Amino acid sequence: MLTLDNQSRLALTHVRSALSRRLGAAARGRAWEAFAARLDQHFPRLFAELAGLYGQRPDFVPFLDELLFTAWQGWQSRPVDLRAQDAQREADTDWFQRETMLGGVCYVDLFCGNLRGVIDQIPYFQELGLTYLHLMPPFKCPPDHNDGGYAVSSYREVNPALGTIEDLRALAVALRKAGISLVLDFIFNHTADDHEWAQAAVKGDPARRDFYYLFDDRSQPDAYEKTVREIFPDEHPGAFSQLPDGRWVWTTFHSYQWDLNYGNPAVFTAMAGEMLAIANLGADILRMDAVAFIWKRLGTSCENLPEAHALIRAFNALCRIAAPGLLFKSEAIVHPDDVMKYISPQECQLSYNPLQMALLWNTLATREVNLLQQALQERHTLPAGTAWVNYVRSHDDIGWTFADEDAIRFGINGFDHRQFLNRFYVNRFPGSFARGVPFQDNPVTGDCRISGTCASLVGLEQGDPLAVQRVLLLHSVALSTGGIPLIYLGDEVGTPNDHRYLDDPAQAGDSRWVHRPRRVPALYAQREDAGTPAGRIHQGLRRMIEVRRSHAAFAGNALTGFGSGNASVLGYLRGLPDRPVLVLANFSEHPQHCDAAVFSALPPVLPDLLQGAPHPVRGGLTLKPYEVLWLDVAGAAGG
Ligand code: GLC
Ligand code: GLC
Repeated sequence: MLTLDNQSRLALTHVRSALSRRLGAAARGRAWEAFAARLDQHFPRLFAELAGLYGQRPDFVPFLDELLFTAWQGWQSRPVDLRAQDAQREADTDWFQRETMLGGVCYVDLFCGNLRGVIDQIPYFQELGLTYLHLMPPFKCPPDHNDGGYAVSSYREVNPALGTIEDLRALAVALRKAGISLVLDFIFNHTADDHEWAQAAVKGDPARRDFYYLFDDRSQPDAYEKTVREIFPDEHPGAFSQLPDGRWVWTTFHSYQWDLNYGNPAVFTAMAGEMLAIANLGADILRMDAVAFIWKRLGTSCENLPEAHALIRAFNALCRIAAPGLLFKSEAIVHPDDVMKYISPQECQLSYNPLQMALLWNTLATREVNLLQQALQERHTLPAGTAWVNYVRSHDDIGWTFADEDAIRFGINGFDHRQFLNRFYVNRFPGSFARGVPFQDNPVTGDCRISGTCASLVGLEQGDPLAVQRVLLLHSVALSTGGIPLIYLGDEVGTPNDHRYLDDPAQAGDSRWVHRPRRVPALYAQREDAGTPAGRIHQGLRRMIEVRRSHAAFAGNALTGFGSGNASVLGYLRGLPDRPVLVLANFSEHPQHCDAAVFSALPPVLPDLLQGAPHPVRGGLTLKPYEVLWLDVAGAAGG
């Protein structure tokens, strides 16, 4: 038996010579040499991952040949400016860890009209301080039912309602000039049912049929459904949908989103080609959609399987060879232990932080920081070379993905507590300020998630006088705990829920549309007017963004918990030991006092970076309702 290293060395020699034979004269010159050098460096990692997945197959070597040819094609067609940026990023691997990084996310049509309209918004993005823009999927998709673009009909074409592929390329260039990284989705768990592969599969093309999980009868679906959970039970029960011809197809999400079968290596190669094409449009970061679901095995939950990680690491290794500047962001909205497993420089360098997101809303409801404080202290640390994307809410629902075993340490029963949170956020709890809408309410399991814009969930809609402070409080945590803070555009001017989705038959069944409102020009017009909620929110956020951007303490991810001694006050120290900022955040609508003892090791007067006011702490410190302080420990006078 050859060791893996020896197999890998032999395979590399073979693949390299097969590739140069196939390329002939093209396998010369600087582009080839750069490619070959990176191939030599990263092939062992690629090989190890793929051998684990497909190494037992008789067609493994031809598969590798085809894959590396795809990689070469990707590199060869990579625009010169992107290659130059690759080189910069390889030399500056921390570029996404800076205190200046700030993300925004929006739908192209809803926020900007179309792709050209996104260019028109660049001055606004710069005013806000964005350095990262996630555009919801702009690719070709079915006209009505398309899950907001997450059902892709072609990864090589743009939705004609938004523009052309050339518009997207031009937009990427314009953003790059403005210092804004472009984030696009890599929707690789499924395609739309009208994708040409799916169409060919239905017609009986055997090669394409093996791209999906198609079954003649219910025997396999029934066997799998013993252990998989339902993701969109409102739309269809279970994980499969029936075709008009009677067959069944795996559809984790909507029935028009067909899961791809990565058990078939041809799917990996085909999707690698699509991935590199998206990268070459000018994406800096790929948001890896629905990572948890990409590998299935009978008798398991078919989520977060080891093979899913191997697949992503193989895609990552391929990028190091053919699009080396590109980063991956993991979208795993699952148990916090499982979220963590996607995060490493070899897998996804970035990840949504769904735990912090959910616990922000939890804390706002309970006024008790226990779970959030615990998460910051025990579940915040990341491997070097990776970062969180911290957010208050996204285009998706809020799911209560905290760990039951964490909650029970405070005597909190996870199931009961989720029931409470759901009632609280849909305003079925006495005294709730929230105006959310249930999402995928499942009477069988008792599971439910929450839809709603930030403004509507904090009470702005019904004029709650404390709502503006709640918006600022939530965002202050996302802005100060590290990584890349991500703002859902519209929330920074307090955009309320939009119930018009109920009039559109293609959207009415999916309450997430309530929190995907169109850009409201009137709210943006008020953004300098401190007499309006929109103005107070915008100015408050701009202040935090400016302070953050000018303080090295906010770079990177390092964070130390700071016990405030008050159950409603969150506390943490950010930054290097020699230049820390102490963050205190009051999650209650009442003043809260922190005793003198907790400040005993600190200077007697701490200046607040946000308001500029000095805070004497020898007698303790009282925070106003929902007040946030960013106290500059190093900048404090005297000791
Ligand atoms: C991701 C997207 C979500 C979509 C799903 C299926 O979770 O964020 O909007 O419904 O994937 O693609
Ligand atoms: C995707 C969906 C989200 C769902 C989650 C379940 O992220 O967008 O709605 O809660 O999957 O894991």
